[in-house]
Amino acid sequence: PTLSPAKVVWHAAAVSREERPTRGRTVWLTGLSASGKSTVAVELESRLVASGVPAYRLDGDNLRHGLNSDLGFSAADRAENVRRVGAVAQLLADAGVVAIASLISPYRADRERVRAEHRAAGVDFIEVFVDTPVQQCEARDPKGMYAKARAGEIKGFTGVDDPYEAPGEAELVLRPEDGTPSEQAAKIMELLRRDL
Ligand code: PPS
Repeated sequence: PTLSPAKVVWHAAAVSREERPTRGRTVWLTGLSASGKSTVAVELESRLVASGVPAYRLDGDNLRHGLNSDLGFSAADRAENVRRVGAVAQLLADAGVVAIASLISPYRADRERVRAEHRAAGVDFIEVFVDTPVQQCEARDPKGMYAKARAGEIKGFTGVDDPYEAPGEAELVLRPEDGTPSEQAAKIMELLRRDL
């Protein structure tokens, strides 16, 4: 049986967030499969670490090998995937790390829930929409997933026969014309610096 939160007592820390040596936050990259989220995340992580900022990637695909290996791609499973990654990102950010989540996270309500959790805890949440049009993602198709989805071998593939709900108020929108993944990561760096 699930333990109701009412039956567990929150144990407060003796260390405040301000006392920690670094300030963390969550950078949440959302977009279609093959939009470039993971590549931008890798670039961003490298840039941050090179400049002495602790950063850690939470990649949807990678976490589905471990933490989220019990989840599929139904709306409920995607919601749970986003909830868990959101919770882990928030913990990392609270600990002083820049958590870089890269997940399709196709449903607006799921992302908004993560944002609300962060807000309630006073942790920064920066949503970055990797806005690569589906035609371009499909032309890239690095894993041949779009081809399989079009052939009906994969059902409920985001952008083909499952919805992607674009963010209305992302802190940053990255489009292909914004340059290479490295240049796109530089734009996120600028945003983070401006907000220091
Ligand atoms: S989600 O929607 O946020 O829970 O998805 P995520 O954890 O980011 O996982 C997306 C990767 O899983 C592969 N895959 C699918 N994507 C979308 N829809 C369906 N049905 C699906 N089945 C498998 C896909 O290759 C995604 O890879 P990325 O890295 O995003 O290209």
